[in-house]
Amino acid sequence: MYSEKVMDHFQNPRNVGEIENASGVGTVGNAKCGDIMRMFLDIDDNGIIQDVKFKTFGCGAAVATSSMATELVKGKSIQEALQVTNKAVMEALDGLPPVKVHCSLLAEEAIHAALWDYAQKKGIEIEGLSKPKSDISEGEEEEDY
Ligand code: FES
Repeated sequence: MYSEKVMDHFQNPRNVGEIENASGVGTVGNAKCGDIMRMFLDIDDNGIIQDVKFKTFGCGAAVATSSMATELVKGKSIQEALQVTNKAVMEALDGLPPVKVHCSLLAEEAIHAALWDYAQKKGIEIEGLSKPKSDISEGEEEEDY
């Protein structure tokens, strides 16, 4: 059901932890499953992501996708990091079962939330970045009613 890459990142997640005095911190959740993701970014003066760490109360797919997402944004510019969508992360992991696709959104939204926090602190605007959701199930829930 899960690819080898998903299993690998689930069992040996990369970049787990926290960054003290991070340039940006983003927290997002999914009210439906109750999972939470927090992402820490260390961004240097040239706008390059020098370090990234995450912590989660999340399912295995959330762990694996966040682990891969942190690998994909490390060493990248802010604009490059914005291209790391949940689809890009899933492709890098050789896919996820359809019922687990929403889990990969936690990582994407948490990175956006951390970049948003960084921009707020710096008083800058990041092109292409709009205010992130704090709950990734917000949009979905409306459709349910
Ligand atoms: Fe909640 Fe996967 S089930 S993030």
